[in-house]
Amino acid sequence: MKTLTASGRLAALLLASCASVPAAAQASAEERAAVTEAQMTDAERTQLTLGYMSMEVAGVHPPEGALPGAGIVPGVPRLNVPPLWETDASLGVVWVGGARGNGGTQLPSGTAQGATWNPELIEAGGRMIGSEAHAKGYNVLLAGGINLMREARNGRTFEYIGEDPLLSGVLGGAAVRGIQSNHIISTVKHFAINPQETGRHYMNVEIDEASLRESDLLAFEIAIEQGNPGSVMCAYNRINGPLSCDSHFLLTDVLRDDWGYQGFVMSDWGAVEGLDFALAGLDQQSGAQLDEGLFMDVPLREAAQSDPRYRTRLGEMARRVLWAIYANNLDTNLPEMTAVDSAANSEVALQVAQEGIVLLRNQAGSLPLSSAVNSIAVIGGNADTGTMVGGGSSRVFSDEGPAAMVPMLRGGEARFANFMDPAFNRSVPLDAIRDAAPDARVSYRDGRYLSEAALAASQADVAIVFVNQFQTEGLDVPDLSLPQGQDALVAAVATANPNTIVVIQSGGPVTMPWLDDVAAVVEAWYPGARGGEAIADVLFGAVNPSGHLPITFPASEAQLPRPELPGARTVTPSFLGRGEPGATLDADYAIEGSDVGYRWFARQGLTPLFPFGHGLSYTTFSHDGLQLRNRRGEVTASFAIANTGDREGADVAQLYLTRVNGETRQRLVGFARRDLQPGESAQVSVTVDPRLLAEWENDGWQIASGDYTFALGASATDLGPEQTIRINGFRLDSSGARER
Ligand code: BGC
Repeated sequence: MKTLTASGRLAALLLASCASVPAAAQASAEERAAVTEAQMTDAERTQLTLGYMSMEVAGVHPPEGALPGAGIVPGVPRLNVPPLWETDASLGVVWVGGARGNGGTQLPSGTAQGATWNPELIEAGGRMIGSEAHAKGYNVLLAGGINLMREARNGRTFEYIGEDPLLSGVLGGAAVRGIQSNHIISTVKHFAINPQETGRHYMNVEIDEASLRESDLLAFEIAIEQGNPGSVMCAYNRINGPLSCDSHFLLTDVLRDDWGYQGFVMSDWGAVEGLDFALAGLDQQSGAQLDEGLFMDVPLREAAQSDPRYRTRLGEMARRVLWAIYANNLDTNLPEMTAVDSAANSEVALQVAQEGIVLLRNQAGSLPLSSAVNSIAVIGGNADTGTMVGGGSSRVFSDEGPAAMVPMLRGGEARFANFMDPAFNRSVPLDAIRDAAPDARVSYRDGRYLSEAALAASQADVAIVFVNQFQTEGLDVPDLSLPQGQDALVAAVATANPNTIVVIQSGGPVTMPWLDDVAAVVEAWYPGARGGEAIADVLFGAVNPSGHLPITFPASEAQLPRPELPGARTVTPSFLGRGEPGATLDADYAIEGSDVGYRWFARQGLTPLFPFGHGLSYTTFSHDGLQLRNRRGEVTASFAIANTGDREGADVAQLYLTRVNGETRQRLVGFARRDLQPGESAQVSVTVDPRLLAEWENDGWQIASGDYTFALGASATDLGPEQTIRINGFRLDSSGARER
């Protein structure tokens, strides 16, 4: 058979595309992108490289056809290239201040999703929100929050999955797969470290390459391999000097040259400072009116006339956007405004909440509560209103909007300021508790007065205290305490009633000075559209809790690599947060290097309040018979999980590397979630990605010769018997391929 050269194939495809013969349909996305780009004028090419906010900003109106959402990139009708209609985010189709006239189904927060350790469910969540995006007229969902929790006070922790590269990469990739199954481009964001909101437009992460490759970059690498997102969104902050969207290292050396990524890099909104970002590898300037100029429009076109570097990049940039369009068949599957079955979709949100809620403490089987309990005092946390919703660009509400917003004004008077107000959805925990215990006397006190709360608690069999930590984009939490006197509230209630159950709604970890005095603690995160029900399901045992922490809960800020939040003394928080011209804020991330979260705790020998991976159940499980096999360096672990209790439940077995040649090196290298009936057991096998055993050295992954010790765990600190296996050293190159 005759094989065509690349240019011959392009010519054939051009002919085919003109005549609309089937060959065009069979072409790869890459080939189709090349054909279309070759037919474009420069004005059409630049059209694909610049996105507008979908509203008027700084006197610049969006092009026709914009929908209320994050933005629009005009299409090229002559060549059947559709516009890109963009909306946020990983938790659902955002509310946009009600401007669209309808809402979306709210998935639980990213940390709740992370706590499920269930890729199939997270993929189903992605499928659901992607289908809603498509039905509301969008074809780009700015979803796929992959950043690791390096800073426990980060105001956006609730948008991300956790602190471990494997867990975040696998779940993030699954979400993207689900979203894109709807002919929607998804992103992964914010590439590659976006650790805090304080000084977010200029803070500079200082970290060495090996640490970066083994942690945050690895999370993105895995997510991209598993989800194949059409786009990657670069972050606001700087890494080792340049802004992320201007980082040749990140956008070209790593993403394109090492990983062979074919999609496009879009900037975060208001993250571009000049035309030369295109030379670093940025393909599309997003929400461009927020920047000082529409750089990727006329300036790019003009530069391409005279400067061959821009000429080359312009073609490449357009082709990468087209690749994402064709790889996801956007051109043949335009989004259509259709009705959404919110009730059916909310079932997915409910399941994520049910599987993501983590039972942190349960003294003497205090939970589940019996539906025959006589009296319950529900206290605090606006549990009579709804469940908490995080703030910022990811905020989703149902068609009816929020049940309540609390004016906070930390964002000042500026546009978007109310993005940062604490808010509650319409899923009411108090109602769900009343439904679960129809014969009980259920009282509610808002918790503003300790004496009143304590009195109510003392008059009931059980006190359920709801406490909230609100997080929002644009603002970090200054410390890990529960704000507004809630620690004192829990302490007062616990003193009045030994049977006190605490339900926490938080974006990230919180400290619990009252822990020893309460009977049970449930971490509900921001539990989404049906969060109230999910909480009651867990409290009363309709659902056996199976969530496991995707992040470490420190005992105090003193245990963190940076006990004080960088910039806490110098930076005034604000949503746009650009700071004064020339503002600087360096954060030293070499302190923990790649030892993020539980790995830092293991390295330092610190005991957290609750470890990564922790989560109790109403049944018990055993893990037995860990056996390791090594085939040319590929380690496979097999073992049995058994439900040894008397209720159905799901377990998450976690496989950790614990030591290399006898030295502590803790890493999660595999996990498996299994639903088991009482007495049932399952045989499980997990194959370990060699990059998780490796160290980054001399531009590749070095798996040193030696003894590798593994253990199964119920958490990062609750580990079973160890097994050791010998591995003969080998190397993977920067693309992950084995070196000879
Ligand atoms: C956020 C992004 C978001 C974008 C568009 C920015 O403020 O950082 O995550 O996708 O806005 O709304």
